[in-house]
Amino acid sequence: MTSTLVIYTTKYGTTEKYATQIASELHADLKEISNVEANDLIFYDTVIFGAPLYLGKPYHYEKILDIIRLYPPHLFLMFLVGASRPTTEDLKAIKRHLPIQDEHLFYFPGKLDYQALTVKDKLLMQGLKMWIKGHTEKTEAEQEILESFNRPVDLSKPSYTIPLINCVTENALK
Ligand SMILES: Cc1cc2nc3c(=O)[nH]c(=O)nc-3n(C[C@H](O)[C@H](O)[C@H](O)COP(=O)(O)O)c2cc1C
Repeated sequence: MTSTLVIYTTKYGTTEKYATQIASELHADLKEISNVEANDLIFYDTVIFGAPLYLGKPYHYEKILDIIRLYPPHLFLMFLVGASRPTTEDLKAIKRHLPIQDEHLFYFPGKLDYQALTVKDKLLMQGLKMWIKGHTEKTEAEQEILESFNRPVDLSKPSYTIPLINCVTENALK
């Protein structure tokens, strides 16, 4: 029986792609969060959660917390997918509610395609655009976000998953 489970949430598929790759490399089971019951976790030693960042928070964060609090796994890792690396403050807020060690939390760059977004997300992105445009000096991530209004920006790469995969493999050897 496999003892690693990869659970993911996604809105536009980027996190699903990373989760599928990780599950395949680790010969782990893979589930989208709506197909997970908290007691499914009792069958696994290692649980990896993948979630995209929306407005500074992991997507479906509350559901993730409910599942993890009920059956804390022996080894719990998480990867966040986003347009830019979360700030220290965002990470602090995310970690405050999770039983996770710093070295078990990973960040992978994602994708942004303005044309493919829902109407609600387009409106939110317009708000973000106005906010970024108000900055005299723009960070690299902010430039990328502005770019994504003109053309899809894809910052994802399969190789970003290597540190997480190595971490799971090293822990299995202990
Ligand atoms: C409305 C909206 C809000 C977003 N908020 C954030 C954010 O706070 N931080 C971040 O790094 N990325 C943010 N993103 C970018 C998404 O995290 C990125 O597009 C990710 O690849 C989406 O993953 P998914 O395809 O699995 O849904 C946002 C995107 C949208 C459309």
